[in-house]
Amino acid sequence: MPLPETRAVALRGPALSFTGDPFRDGLDRTMVHETDAIVAMAGGRVTHFGPAERVRRELPPGLAITDLGKDALISAGFVDCHAHFPQTPMIAAHGAQLLDWLNRYTFPTELKYADKAFARSVAKTFLQENLRNGITTSCVYCTVHPQSVDALFEEAEALGLRLAAGKVLMDRNAPAELTDTAQSGYDQSQALIAKWHGRGRLLYAITPRFAGTSSPEQLAAAGALWREHADCLMQTHIAETRQEIAWIKELFPDHRDYLDVYDRHGLCGQRAVFGHGTWLGERELQRLHDCGAAIAHCPTSNFFLGSGAFDLSRALERERMVRLGLGTDIGAGTSFSILATLGEAYKAAQLNQQSLSAAHAYYLATRGSARALYLEDRIGSLAPGMEADLVVLDMRSTPLIDFRMNHARDFAEQLFIQMTLGDDRAVQATYVAGRLAYSRKSLV
Ligand code: GUN
Ligand code: ZN
Repeated sequence: MPLPETRAVALRGPALSFTGDPFRDGLDRTMVHETDAIVAMAGGRVTHFGPAERVRRELPPGLAITDLGKDALISAGFVDCHAHFPQTPMIAAHGAQLLDWLNRYTFPTELKYADKAFARSVAKTFLQENLRNGITTSCVYCTVHPQSVDALFEEAEALGLRLAAGKVLMDRNAPAELTDTAQSGYDQSQALIAKWHGRGRLLYAITPRFAGTSSPEQLAAAGALWREHADCLMQTHIAETRQEIAWIKELFPDHRDYLDVYDRHGLCGQRAVFGHGTWLGERELQRLHDCGAAIAHCPTSNFFLGSGAFDLSRALERERMVRLGLGTDIGAGTSFSILATLGEAYKAAQLNQQSLSAAHAYYLATRGSARALYLEDRIGSLAPGMEADLVVLDMRSTPLIDFRMNHARDFAEQLFIQMTLGDDRAVQATYVAGRLAYSRKSLV
């Protein structure tokens, strides 16, 4: 796919990237850390990446090199596998767990997206927040209203973003104004796929919200639609809280487990992204592995709603590793910052007596999440030919981080400090398809 022409740009500074999966193959074989690298971009793609001494000789003569200094870190842009843009106005809603939170806060807010102008204004804010946090791709739930999808895609297209999104399908257990039907949801999704899927960098995600708000007929219609458009993503929620699981069992008493509900309706396979999965059983994890589906780990949301602490190493057991990405899950999630989200992923692992290394965490937020979306051949790492979506971190973004960095013994510790103490202030610049899309300096 041709990307828009952009001027050639070369950045020089420390850089981090991954050539493979460190959970499977170890950091030694997959992590690339250059203390002095050049990343060059042209035509929307990375053209060069490697040690500055080598790459500078390969660049076209006269191409200016922007030196970012030794306290920067150049990385592939962050990938958010699970977010709800319409929930931006209700982030930080107090005092409820999942099912209550949906009824009390989420559905009343989502009603407002019948108004396209409102949807557009929130989409703009959501995407600006993403860029301010170095997120260059996300997989997004819209609302039941097709115009909410149009609004988000139109704004993402104007920014040149690679983004996946879809209209939420809900035909029960929600306010009447927020429901479609199996047929109308199918028809509207079909029309949105025809309009948006594969247009520029945009991808469609078929989006049954979860088994609690879709009838068996609607889940079957979503499965049929996905069969007809197998290169679309499919996203939904699964096994987020124990109370939710008990309710799904009541709604679908004849199914083996939660995943079986989706599976028997044709909703389990490659390019499926299941949000949360905190309480999945052994059989379900094995099935996700077998069919190539992914889990989006959403730690800030899981803590905020009191849902649980996702057991990363269980999902990643060597014999049946599940594709795993990271999600902010805005607005049950409490931060657009991927650094803050990784900090919470570390704590979720701690509660399961595991220690998530900073490098493994950065993999999850970049190449790992790209792989969860089946996009690792295009985004999520730095290499010639990859789409030029980048984040530049400032490794000394606050007085405390600056002070703490003076006492860091090695790069692993420096990275860990960022994900424990860092936030949006650590994002110095964000590049989308080789173009500077956000610069911290220009906004303050
Ligand atoms: N399960 C069904 N819908 C939602 C939602 O909007 N947010 C979260 N966190 N879980 C859900
Ligand atoms: Zn969600």
